[in-house]
Amino acid sequence: MLVVATIKELQNALYKHRQANKKIAVVPTMGNLHEGHLALVKTAQQHADIVVVTLFVNPTQFGANEDLDSYPRTFQDDCDKLDALNTSILFAPNIDEMYPLGGDQTTHVHVPNMTQVLCGASRPGHFDGVTTIVSKLFNITRADIAIFGEKDYQQLAVIRRMVNDLNIPIKIIGKPIVREPDGLAMSSRNGYLSEKERRIAPRLHQLLQTIKQEIIEGNHDLKSLESHAITDLIEAGFKPDYLQIYQRNELRPATENDKEIIILAAAFLGSTRLIDNIYVNRS
Ligand code: PAJ
Repeated sequence: MLVVATIKELQNALYKHRQANKKIAVVPTMGNLHEGHLALVKTAQQHADIVVVTLFVNPTQFGANEDLDSYPRTFQDDCDKLDALNTSILFAPNIDEMYPLGGDQTTHVHVPNMTQVLCGASRPGHFDGVTTIVSKLFNITRADIAIFGEKDYQQLAVIRRMVNDLNIPIKIIGKPIVREPDGLAMSSRNGYLSEKERRIAPRLHQLLQTIKQEIIEGNHDLKSLESHAITDLIEAGFKPDYLQIYQRNELRPATENDKEIIILAAAFLGSTRLIDNIYVNRS
């Protein structure tokens, strides 16, 4: 695996592959890689000849009171995991390489409306940070394909929207959530959980499954399902941020007639913010 830290080195390496008509995929990450990230890399390898994984803990998507400083940084371990998969290139720039003028002095990409709800409502500015860094990575790599996880469902939807609105010539592929055996969605933030919190954490997924079952069995009172779920989360020991039942493609609250539904939730266990979601198809 070629490991590069500068845009110039990366572009030099990609130039020859592009000349040879190789298909290039990019998998953006913030590192501390787990099986969820590695599944994206494996998918990228199925769709492209050259896979570039990017590793950059992007400061502009963290709020002032969030975990930028404590975010787990496990560079050598990440390299070993990617090497074992035969990843072509790891691009791991430092902050100055990505933001030579400082993050706030960069032109920003803002996707309106759909960034104001769900995670966007409680993390103001977060998605502007994501769309800005992801645009930069798309422009730097000029990849043909990019792979993102459905665990960050709103992020994936916002990126799809940005690519569509700005006619960015890249194909976006979404991958299902990879879970621990007890159902907890894998996340770099799970490492923050205490033993007790880790035992409670799978309840979030269990609750989403229960609501899914209720909807499938014909419960149409989505508002009441949402409010009961908030109570259940509190009783289980979470501090819920939101639990909402949405139409899956348009990312807006679902109505009685919607068939393609997604239930999305975010909740704190102590100071750790967990997110999860589940699809429901109503016939
Ligand atoms: P990060 O949290 O490192 O996630 C990188 C990618 O891995 C994202 O597409 C995310 O959805 C996916 N992912 C994480 N956990 C997953 C799981 N359990 N199953 C499937 N996919 C999973 O998301 C980011 O970084 C950043 O916002 C980024 C896009 C890199 C921009 O900075």
